[in-house]
Amino acid sequence: MPKLYIETVGCQMNMLDSELVVASLRRQGYELVGTPREADTILFNTCSVRQHAEDKIYSALGRLKHAKRTHPEKIIGVLGCMAQKDQRLIFDRAPYVDLVVGPGQLHQIPQILQEIAAGGEKRMEVSLDRTDGSRSQVERSFESYDPLRDEEMRPSPYQAFVRIMIGCDKFCTYCIVPSVRGPEQSRPAALIELEVRKLADEGCREITLLGQTVNSYRHAADGRTTRLSDLIERLHAIDGIDRIKFVTNYPKDMTDDLLQAVRDLPKCSHYLHVPCQSGSNAVLRRMKRGYSVEEYREMLGRIRETVPDAAVTSDWIVGFCGETDHDFQATAELLREGRFKNSFIFKYSPRPGTKADERLPDDVPEQVKRERNHVLLEMQNQISEQDNQVFLGREVTVLVEGPSKTSRKRASEGDRMGVTAGDHAHGEALQLTGRTNCDRIAVFDGNARLIGRFIPVMVYDANAFTLFTSVVTRHVGPEVYSLV
Ligand code: 5AD
Ligand code: SF4
Repeated sequence: MPKLYIETVGCQMNMLDSELVVASLRRQGYELVGTPREADTILFNTCSVRQHAEDKIYSALGRLKHAKRTHPEKIIGVLGCMAQKDQRLIFDRAPYVDLVVGPGQLHQIPQILQEIAAGGEKRMEVSLDRTDGSRSQVERSFESYDPLRDEEMRPSPYQAFVRIMIGCDKFCTYCIVPSVRGPEQSRPAALIELEVRKLADEGCREITLLGQTVNSYRHAADGRTTRLSDLIERLHAIDGIDRIKFVTNYPKDMTDDLLQAVRDLPKCSHYLHVPCQSGSNAVLRRMKRGYSVEEYREMLGRIRETVPDAAVTSDWIVGFCGETDHDFQATAELLREGRFKNSFIFKYSPRPGTKADERLPDDVPEQVKRERNHVLLEMQNQISEQDNQVFLGREVTVLVEGPSKTSRKRASEGDRMGVTAGDHAHGEALQLTGRTNCDRIAVFDGNARLIGRFIPVMVYDANAFTLFTSVVTRHVGPEVYSLV
């Protein structure tokens, strides 16, 4: 049985791609292993959004140079965004790599691996560059990769990512995504519905719909256009699915019909990730984000009005080309005013092939980027902590995801000491983790049988990242029993 090791960096789209690649290879008889040393086939599913993510992969590849010399039969592959971006350059920098496969060609992997194992040549399969053909030719060269899934390969049996669109047409000047993930293409609603029904049959209870600009989803069939709000309504009707999330939203496409769907459909998570990137109009213009600070504020206002308890999160880039202190202060002001549940803050990283890299100097010194990053992080942590403390003494419902990190650590220490993980299944309390409807992380002690269930918990403490809670038990008549 061939042994497969896969390492994944990047976004949820990449996590889903890896899950599907592994599923298709397991169907061919591959067995998943935990280290490159044990593996016959080593795959890296890569990200290009910042330089740092690429550096990590090139150094991981560097560490395999020796292994490949001593075990030339090992197959090494680079998949995903960096494969599409760097193409042959990967073979130049790491000549012992056997395959380079872009995100639009993942369906070919089982076949390619078979051919290489049989003594075939190195292979590179990538999509067309966006200027290398007509729109429809380029579209066709990026195939949405949504083959059969494998229950066991999901992050948890009760949760699944569901791709509803691929690519991006927004072309923000700093961003490599439109080049490496290709044109925006929405998948047919009927196919998505079929996939979600199957997931529900398998016991999945929460789905997260994925797209680079998920709320730009639009699919026309039989003379009717399905928007994201319509799609959610269709998926909402599926028995067994109890929570629906969607990421990542583009501010300009945050339409009222979508917000009303989130308000009116009880299975919708009250959690909206809507990256703003900067609080300065001058910077937003140079980023070509397509909206002004005033428009973003207006959109936030509509969210707060329609779904008052929604947790909103944002991404921010600090140190973008030409960002002055004044621009940065405006970002800090918007971050403070917006009261985001969470902010993901990134230092600008020039990406070859983007407009910003070609036309705008990366003129904010690294030290300034670092300081600005730090200031925003501190500010956000304070806000997150204050907003989490509002939950003290409140009861919230969580979907129990599994043992918390602390619990997993204790279990692996226990393994070393001869305690088996199976002990937990027999009633011992574990520290479990779950998420609330507004995507807050809660930890609590409970039995492993609770995993995969929605349960009420009471919040007794909170910091910026976590709600500390205990499982709520109800007293009914003379008996005392747990609601769950
Ligand atoms: N440099 C830094 N951050 C970037 N992002 C995208 N491109 C870059 C870049 N070149 C950030 C944006 C985006 C998130 C996924 O990554 O904030 O929303
Ligand atoms: Fe990149 Fe902008 Fe598309 Fe987001 S919307 S993926 S930042 S180009």
